[in-house]
Amino acid sequence: MALIHVIDSEGEEHEVEGQIGLSLMESLRDLDNGTLALCGGMCSCATCHCFIEEPWASSLSERQDDELELLEDLDSFKKDQSRLSCQIEFTEDMDGMRVQIAPDE
Ligand code: FES
Repeated sequence: MALIHVIDSEGEEHEVEGQIGLSLMESLRDLDNGTLALCGGMCSCATCHCFIEEPWASSLSERQDDELELLEDLDSFKKDQSRLSCQIEFTEDMDGMRVQIAPDE
């Protein structure tokens, strides 16, 4: 079992069980104030935007161009922390990861 520490969009903290082998978004969207993920993971809505804390942020694979384009259009974009959670595969070694749900835009 791998846990994710999540700060939801209202600032409340939760521990969520990560769904290994699925996108990070799948583990975040069941929270009441979790990620919306309106496009269902098609990398076209940016409503799954989240901030990933270190050391996990820099250990993830690079953003693809389409992910980065969507992120850079957001007012809340943070160069070192912003990711679309639908574009990250959650793996067992991400146990303990800390994630903050980005504000709605
Ligand atoms: S769910 Fe729409 S971009 Fe991630």
